[in-house]
Amino acid sequence: MTNPNAEQATILIFGASGDLTARKLLPALYHLWQDGYLTESSPIIGIARREKTDDSFREETRQTILGADAAKTEEWQHFAQQLFYRELDLTAAGDYERMTSQVAEIEEQLGSRGKRIVYLATAPSLFYPSVEGLAAGGMIPNRDSNEILRVVLEKPFGHDLSSSRELSNNLGRILSEDQIYRIDHYLGKETVQNMLLFRYGNAIFEPLLNRNHVDHVQITVAESQGMERGRGGYYDQSGAIRDVLQNHVLQLLCLVAMEPPAMFRADAIRDEKLKVLKALRMCEGAGMSDCFVAGQYESGTQNGERVRGYRDEERIPADSRTETYVALKAEVDNWRWAGVPFYLRTGKRLPHRVTEVAIQFKLPPLNLFNTIECEGDICEIVNARPNTLIFRIQPKEAITLMMSTKRPGMQYQIHPVAMDFMYEEAFERRLPEAYERLLLDVLRGDSTLFTRSDELEAAWEFVTPLLNYQSLPTSQPEIYAAGSWGPRAADEMLRRASHCWRQPHAR
Ligand code: BG6
Repeated sequence: MTNPNAEQATILIFGASGDLTARKLLPALYHLWQDGYLTESSPIIGIARREKTDDSFREETRQTILGADAAKTEEWQHFAQQLFYRELDLTAAGDYERMTSQVAEIEEQLGSRGKRIVYLATAPSLFYPSVEGLAAGGMIPNRDSNEILRVVLEKPFGHDLSSSRELSNNLGRILSEDQIYRIDHYLGKETVQNMLLFRYGNAIFEPLLNRNHVDHVQITVAESQGMERGRGGYYDQSGAIRDVLQNHVLQLLCLVAMEPPAMFRADAIRDEKLKVLKALRMCEGAGMSDCFVAGQYESGTQNGERVRGYRDEERIPADSRTETYVALKAEVDNWRWAGVPFYLRTGKRLPHRVTEVAIQFKLPPLNLFNTIECEGDICEIVNARPNTLIFRIQPKEAITLMMSTKRPGMQYQIHPVAMDFMYEEAFERRLPEAYERLLLDVLRGDSTLFTRSDELEAAWEFVTPLLNYQSLPTSQPEIYAAGSWGPRAADEMLRRASHCWRQPHAR
């Protein structure tokens, strides 16, 4: 029976020999197909320069998705019939016409028409040449036609504000904004979307999320990995500010800080996110080093194993100054949040992979229950701990509310406890991968979870002073040991404000 939710389109993946295509895109499309979201008349065409046949592309894809030993199931055979591969040098504008007719032939064979999705899983330097090629090959529909073309771009969208602007302007000459889908895969994560639902689908929390009740907010995107899979070449040009802060971390900040949109529509939500980015400030009046710390990992011990330092990683120059960690203190300078610090941090080779947004509330105004607790000869005064609301984005998706309770006994002894909602336990189903959700949204034409050009520009504007500061000859990232929580200066930055970083566990 045909699934009424199934989408029909021709999907072209430029950069089909790359890591992203193999690890994320093709598995996501396969799952969408399995779950009935993609019709059987939707060809998926891998496009790249390497020589390959449809059969070898199908076999490679089978191995990545099902594993080398898996049997060729009937289901797989079925799906494989929708996979195709065509060779193209993306920089050769003259070759796109040939590609267009090859695509049309495949469409004819499968009965696909009217909608094409082009996913640019390529190096950013190929974004514009590819779009120019699409124009040269006659793939851009006339504005008054019913045909649909959507072009999906992977980050990085530029290297800084001016290159991002230039790219937007160039693309804007050929494509309209509603044809461009800029992916930030964090927005496809189920728990990131749940931040919106949690805030606007419940009545009791939203009234508390403001300067009257919130002491500060901490956003952590910690990764245990270093420069695996030959990423060093890209990463050394990028660094933590461009790679994760400018996009994923700022997007999380927008979702926790934005005002409720008037309706749940792409532009209404993106308008609100934009306002947050525009209200974002750092260290008004203070020096940059008071509210910004950059670090780089050296060798250390992680999960009991010795790992090498950044400068010893493959394709990293021995004198690299690229930051593998950043932490900063920002403020959303608006009526709701003025004066509330937002502490943001991200880094490689931290103790474990964990992403969370933690909202720490103010303490009760009066300490009625401070008690003295002793263990042997050591006694301490235990006061109320602040309530904290934690959105754990990964790995064990959860929402936790920390609160104080009375420890059973004859005295009033205060004890912090956690109220946990764990996705895994509450829903007995696999959480869809970010790319599944985002690809389905592109097929449906829903751009809510994609970054608009003005948002992108505002995010670049915010990080520009950090990039400038980082590039000063006097700015050296502070060294931290792999497997630690980052440079000491990051702890000091919070200590100066009488705060301290959470040490989130990966349970
Ligand atoms: C990517 C960055 O955008 O996000 C990587 O380029 C990073 O460096 C990755 O590792 C993190 O994504 P996730 O989904 O694993 O948290």
